[in-house]
Amino acid sequence: MDLKNRKIIVTGGAGFIGSHVVDVLAEHDCEVVVVDDLSTGSVRNIRRRLDDGTARLERADIRSQTAMESLIGDADVVLHMAVACVRTSLNDPVFVHETNAGGTLNVAIAAQRNEVGRLVYVSSSEAYGSAQYVPMDEDHPTDPTTVYGASKLVGEGYALAMERTCGMEVTIIRPFNSYGPREPDSGKRAEVIPKFVLRTMAGDRPVIFGDGTQTRDFTWVEDTARGIVAATACDDLVGKRVNVARGQEISIRDVAAKVLTALGRSGEEACFDAPRPGDVDRHHADTALAGKHLDWQPRMSIDEGLQRYIAWLLETGIDPQEWFQREVTRNW
Ligand SMILES: NC(=O)c1ccc[n+]([C@@H]2O[C@H](COP(=O)([O-])OP(=O)(O)OC[C@H]3O[C@@H](n4cnc5c(N)ncnc54)[C@H](O)[C@@H]3O)[C@@H](O)[C@H]2O)c1
Repeated sequence: MDLKNRKIIVTGGAGFIGSHVVDVLAEHDCEVVVVDDLSTGSVRNIRRRLDDGTARLERADIRSQTAMESLIGDADVVLHMAVACVRTSLNDPVFVHETNAGGTLNVAIAAQRNEVGRLVYVSSSEAYGSAQYVPMDEDHPTDPTTVYGASKLVGEGYALAMERTCGMEVTIIRPFNSYGPREPDSGKRAEVIPKFVLRTMAGDRPVIFGDGTQTRDFTWVEDTARGIVAATACDDLVGKRVNVARGQEISIRDVAAKVLTALGRSGEEACFDAPRPGDVDRHHADTALAGKHLDWQPRMSIDEGLQRYIAWLLETGIDPQEWFQREVTRNW
């Protein structure tokens, strides 16, 4: 599918990955409508796109069937990314179920009733749970460790059911952990790399939950966003699940060491705290399917990505000391 001149609804488009997806779509001359309740996302993330007219924002809740049906209207593609996060699922699982599973069913029904050409559901590597073998291809068993992971997997089932019962084109994308500009650094949404970097910038040290041997396939967010847009346009991947990731694993302990080195404190040690409940032990994506069907390659190494993220943070003018005063170490 050529995305040029298509009307594309991006739920969650004011969030971290969603806003980068909106940036990539702007290069494809599409009509982009961001549907977001701004509960964790921000207008700041898409300000440039709103100002240059390449996107518009509809503030709405994906849990509202009526709102979704009327907003999706004559869209060609629905790219569904709105989500409630993994840490929220540890203490408010019903809310996360209602947003991620129920909200996805609403969006899928609304897309089907409006006879949308294609529904693209952005799922998560968390749907797999921890690796039983690596690299993890799309046939790897799904055994999620959290309500978040389970709710993302249920969302996949609801989206694919629309294809099987109604014939709507559906593609499932499974990104792995992404990092980079606009990644949340405060509250429950604060992620590991922003926390490591800001703690170190504030003169403290990264805090690792568990022993730090757990691995992730950290992917630069602009690479993730380009992969998501490429998979959205790809006809060969309709009806399939596809991993979008760098395809390399790194331990959390090694990420902490790289952050300390990047900030001129090599040789210093991170601190350790109790593991986070449901933390996945190992993630390492097999990206062969994406490589076969997409004209896309992740470009950014972890070392360069960390440097670029630090440079971006400095440009924002954030005050690490002030951030540190607000930092809640165990943020779930
Ligand atoms: N961040 C990662 O590393 C990662 C990894 C794998 C998969 N994913 C997936 O990518 C997608 C985007 O994740 P993200 O990290 O950018 O999340 P995010 O929290 O930054 O963005 C989610 C967006 O959804 C919006 N939202 C939340 N609830 C809503 C509701 N009820 N109605 C409308 N909008 C709502 C928020 O305001 C926010 O803008 C999600 O589907 C997530 O599962 C993310």
